[in-house]
Amino acid sequence: MSDRMPHEVRGVVARSRGTKVSVETIVVPDPGPGEALVQVQSCGVCHTDLHYREGGINDEFPFLLGHEAAGIVEAVGDGVTDVAPGDFVILNWRAVCGQCRACRRGRPWYCFATHNAAQKMTLADGTELSPALGIGAFAEKTLVHAGQCTKVDPAASPAAAGLLGCGVMAGIGAAINTGGVTRGDSVAVIGCGGVGDAAIAGARLAGAAKIIAVDIDDRKLEWARGFGATDTVNSREADPVEAVRKLTGGNGADVVIEAIGRPETYEQAFNARDLAGTVVLVGVPTPDMKIELPLLEVFGRGGALKSSWYGDCLPSRDFPMLIDLYLQGRLDLDGFVSETIGLDDVEEAFAKMHRGEVLRSVVTL
Ligand SMILES: NC(=O)c1ccc[n+]([C@@H]2O[C@H](COP(=O)([O-])OP(=O)(O)OC[C@H]3O[C@@H](n4cnc5c(N)ncnc54)[C@H](O)[C@@H]3O)[C@@H](O)[C@H]2O)c1
Ligand SMILES: [Zn+2]
Ligand SMILES: [Zn+2]
Repeated sequence: MSDRMPHEVRGVVARSRGTKVSVETIVVPDPGPGEALVQVQSCGVCHTDLHYREGGINDEFPFLLGHEAAGIVEAVGDGVTDVAPGDFVILNWRAVCGQCRACRRGRPWYCFATHNAAQKMTLADGTELSPALGIGAFAEKTLVHAGQCTKVDPAASPAAAGLLGCGVMAGIGAAINTGGVTRGDSVAVIGCGGVGDAAIAGARLAGAAKIIAVDIDDRKLEWARGFGATDTVNSREADPVEAVRKLTGGNGADVVIEAIGRPETYEQAFNARDLAGTVVLVGVPTPDMKIELPLLEVFGRGGALKSSWYGDCLPSRDFPMLIDLYLQGRLDLDGFVSETIGLDDVEEAFAKMHRGEVLRSVVTL
């Protein structure tokens, strides 16, 4: 392509640790080999965006935030065959390489060398931006690796579909892929934000018989019921470990999913699970956090202590399937969209998330 033109668009940037985000002019290059330029239609506000702004992920400021997005491919670079201009896509942060040691062993959902765009998006003065999770989609357009674009049925609402790009996929996958929840299981989910409620929805899809939602906020527990929780526990009012045991015949749940990322709730998850049960950590902790567990209990309780990176998803396998279930009315993705907002409202959306008023605020463009 000889007539490559950079695109100047508006994007939400975190310039330094803990300071409010601002909407800036950003420069998005035309796609080079293997890349795709995407016109963003929607992008959800995830807790991970706030972690970036607070310096909890790394120090590579300035960040271009936003990573739960859907949009239309506008242009592709040389060698791109899987997607074409006009395709409706969900952006993913797991464009598998096919060559790393995880991929070679047939476990591409762990891929250790996922692809991102080679070219950098920048501020107007040329400062290179670090796109959140290699996406950066609180912007009118973004540049990604073509493998980060997963084609799905365009009948889906962009605001709902985009959420599969991170938090909702992470939650559903934590239950189904990582936790291996199956019919008849008892499941407890600690922390019922967007990710936790998606774990609840995933547990219901998989046929769990009992799904216990644990949160400190009654509004969240109410919403959790809507996604399939059969029982709720407000852990400000009751000891969650005792409550989960009581609801499971004194045994604990087969699978306990921690969807907050805190030591005290991880310990609750550890203790609220049945013998030989599974704990799944999908919440993301910060570098200062530590846990202390009796090693004899780690041994004696058996089972599995697992982490769920992005719900152990394979976007090409899971996104189209989940969009089909959504279009059939079997997965309520719309229920995660608490409000739609503009690019200028992301900072306010962080505050609403903090106050527990929303599951997902979704920027629509
Ligand atoms: N593993 C992954 O791939 C992945 C992907 C996306 C997000 N995440 C992480 O998942 C976590 C949840 O994200 P979210 O967007 O749902 O966040 P959120 O803020 O919407 O939800 C957190 C929920 O936890 C509840 N909570 C807080 N403290 C609690 C406590 N002590 N006991 C019980 N409940 C408590 C809150 O009331 C809220 O409902 C974050 O850490 C996020 O970074 C992980
Ligand atoms: Zn790989
Ligand atoms: Zn996210």
